[in-house]
Amino acid sequence: MGKTILITGASRGIGYETSLKLASLGHTVIATARSEEKLKKLAHEDKSKNIIPVAGDLTVEDDIQKITEVASENNSLDGLINNAGAFHREAFSETDLSVFRKLMDVNVFGIVRLTQALQPLLKKGSHVVNISSMSGFQGSLKFGGFSAYAAAKAAVVGLSEVLGAEFANDGIAVNCLCIGAVQTEMLAEAFPGFEAPVSPAQMGDYLSNFVLTGHQFYNGKVLPVALNDPS
Ligand SMILES: NC(=O)c1ccc[n+]([C@@H]2O[C@H](COP(=O)([O-])OP(=O)(O)OC[C@H]3O[C@@H](n4cnc5c(N)ncnc54)[C@H](OP(=O)(O)O)[C@@H]3O)[C@@H](O)[C@H]2O)c1
Repeated sequence: MGKTILITGASRGIGYETSLKLASLGHTVIATARSEEKLKKLAHEDKSKNIIPVAGDLTVEDDIQKITEVASENNSLDGLINNAGAFHREAFSETDLSVFRKLMDVNVFGIVRLTQALQPLLKKGSHVVNISSMSGFQGSLKFGGFSAYAAAKAAVVGLSEVLGAEFANDGIAVNCLCIGAVQTEMLAEAFPGFEAPVSPAQMGDYLSNFVLTGHQFYNGKVLPVALNDPS
């Protein structure tokens, strides 16, 4: 039977491809990001017509409410993929505190806001997947210039482990994937000229399968999804 999955960061890259894959498998996908135009393109490209686009900024409370209303109109949720993310690269000495705040706001508080709002809609047996990065994975090779991004992605790791313990009481699994290099616009900004070994469509296939089945095997886990360290 078709499931209902909400995914953030669906307007491009990994989130876009994951939305198309889940929809093609017959699942209802509530797809969100700020760009209404790109979400329209996504819904248009989806032959199955299983994608419900809803534009919203994860740093804006009214938009969180709007996304939550669409989710509650449609169904309770079988899955939530907190995939949206913002990136910044700059020497630590030059990086203004406002940049740290912005990256925390999108990458961490965005997950906090949306997951708190959607928590009542998450079914028993549902799966929350938080997307972190190898940049936030303890002990991985780190890169200069990534301080704000890596700090935020490491916070996603800690948050996910605690939610895994806390939500278990309600039969909801929470896992965190620390992704390596995937050929998206974010990667091109992070590592100009680098060719990633994984395409967004490949990662979309993996993520689709993981949100649908990963909670049969894992809860509260932080899993590296990377061929090498870091990519
Ligand atoms: N690509 C990689 O190599 C890689 C590696 C490690 C981890 N990751 C992680 O994987 C996830 C997806 O990455 P990607 O490469 O696909 O990134 P991307 O192409 O830059 O896409 C990021 C998505 O997040 C959305 N977004 C950004 N700020 C937002 C906000 N304030 N509110 C709502 N949505 C927002 C963007 O949509 P709008 O601009 O339309 O809002 C976009 O859909 C991210 O969390 C990233 O950190 C990626």
